[in-house]
This record gives sequence, structure tokens and C-alpha cells, in this order.
Amino acid sequence: MTQEYKGTALVTGASSGIGAVYAHRLAKQGYDLIIVARNGERLKALASGLTEETGRTVETVVADLGNTADLARVEGVLKQDRSITLLVNNAGVGGTAPLLAADVDKMQKMMELNVTALMRLTYAAVPGFVARGGGTIINIASIVAIVPERLNGVYGATKAFVLAFSQSLKHELAERNIRIQAVLPGATATEFWGIAGTPIEHLPSEIVMSAEAMVDASLAGLKQGEFATIPALEDAGLLSAYEQARQALMPNLSRSMPAKRYKLA
Ligand SMILES: NC(=O)c1ccc[n+]([C@@H]2O[C@H](COP(=O)([O-])OP(=O)(O)OC[C@H]3O[C@@H](n4cnc5c(N)ncnc54)[C@H](OP(=O)(O)O)[C@@H]3O)[C@@H](O)[C@H]2O)c1
Repeated sequence: MTQEYKGTALVTGASSGIGAVYAHRLAKQGYDLIIVARNGERLKALASGLTEETGRTVETVVADLGNTADLARVEGVLKQDRSITLLVNNAGVGGTAPLLAADVDKMQKMMELNVTALMRLTYAAVPGFVARGGGTIINIASIVAIVPERLNGVYGATKAFVLAFSQSLKHELAERNIRIQAVLPGATATEFWGIAGTPIEHLPSEIVMSAEAMVDASLAGLKQGEFATIPALEDAGLLSAYEQARQALMPNLSRSMPAKRYKLA
């Protein structure tokens, strides 16, 4: 073990893709891990590989975060394990079909995982972080949080929730030494695309990043104190301008009278 111990990181959706890379990078940074997903075999294989490589303790929790009882079990871990200093809310599924071709029951399941589970796990983690004087939450959103026209609209809306919720967490917890980061990956080469309905091979390679590069950039953004990290965005000024436009709207959004353009006299 070369790195200083940084506490325990709980990473959801760590059995593949982006979550598995977070698990690897965080173990190398000095975190013990609790890795969560449905596929126990994959989690176990990852855990033993990581322990062998880094010497860190890696616990596996097999849970379907779309299932209320399983979710409650993971919430219990977050409430009880005082060693947890970092929560990575990564587990998620997407979709690429438009409304007329999408199954509404699948849309609801997506919302239960991408929105409800992420929200409940955050609620489970924050009081302990406050009581212990600090902590970090990394919420994996997506670029579709700001461009929901790109993929399935419900998927985009779930990620807009993640971004908006993260924004409010940052605001509410600013004085509590709790760091919040929202990560907005563009297309990333994982199993996500096949599951979402469009194999990754159908995307132009120049817009697809490796999960390793995506996670490394995001962790660099976290270190630099970024709130919203868009790994592919070359000109950070564009994101600042977007935020400035939002801030400029803020004092103008609630008034006793409708705006003059509605001509209500
Ligand atoms: N890939 C992209 O282009 C991209 C872009 C932007 C954002 N994202 C976001 O990145 C996150 C990770 O996705 P990925 O690209 O790494 O895809 P992935 O390889 O398919 O990984 C998804 C992870 O979530 C877990 N998971 C899925 N359903 C679950 C459930 N019901 N309960 C518990 N765990 C569950 C999966 O494990 P099990 O199957 O073992 O449960 C897996 O570990 C997602 O939130 C996704 O929306 C991805």
C-alpha cells in the first residue's frame, strides 16, 4: 500500500464500465471500497483483483437498487458505516428510443434507478457526513442533463434531475464541508450503449471516450474543485457562460406581475 488511507468509498454500479474504473482509481488513491451492483460474480472478481493490486479492503454488496428492500439494505450500510467518506452514485441505465417506440414500464424502472435510488442513497449518506464533519458525493449525470434532445427523453430527464439535485446539494451543504461533484460524461465506451438499445459501434468513434479517460478526467476535475465536470468539453468558458446566464436569470424569475410582453395591461 503506497497511498495514505482516505476512508471508505461506496461505489454503485461498480460491476462494469465507469463504476469499475472508479473503484480501481479510488483503491489506488487509498480508499477502501464497498462496491455495489446486481452481478455478484463480477463484483467478487473485481474485489479480489483490486485487493491484490492495491492491498485495500474491498467489500461487495449484491443489490438491485431498483428493488426497495435491496435499496434499503444499501441505505443501511451508508447510515451505519462510519468509515464511509465518499459516495459515488454511478449505477444507472439509459435508453435511446424516442417516446413512441419506448416502453413506459421500462421508463419507470429507469427513473427508480437513476433518480429514486440516487436520491435515497444521498439522503442516507449526508447526515453521517455532516455528523463526522465532511464527506464527498460524486453524482454521475450525463451531457443529456443539458441536451435531453440527444437520447431518450426520460433518460435525459433523469440526468437533469441528477444535475439539479446536485446543484441544490452543493448550495445546501456548502457550509458543511461536503463536496458535491456532478459528472456529465459524453458517450463513453461501456456496456451502457448495448443495454440502452444502440450498440457503441453505431457511434462515430471521434465522440466516444474510454471509461478510463472519462474517470481520470473527472477525478482531476474533483481535485481542481469543479462542481460540474464535462470531461470532453475543451472550452471551460462555455460552461461558465452557461452558469452565468443561469445566475443572471435568478433574480428575475418571480414577480407580482406578468411580464409586459404578455400585454395584460
Ligand atoms: N456510457 C455512457 O456513454 C454514459 C454517458 C453518460 C453517463 N453515463 C452514466 O454512467 C453511469 C454508469 O454507466 P456505464 O456507462 O458504466 O454503463 P454500464 O457498464 O452498463 O454500467 C452500469 C452499472 O450499473 C449497474 N446497475 C444497472 N442496473 C442496476 C440495478 N438495478 N441495481 C444495481 N446496479 C445496477 C450495473 O451492474 P449490474 O448489471 O451488475 O447490476 C453496472 O455496474 C450510468 O449512470 C450512466 O447513465 C454513461
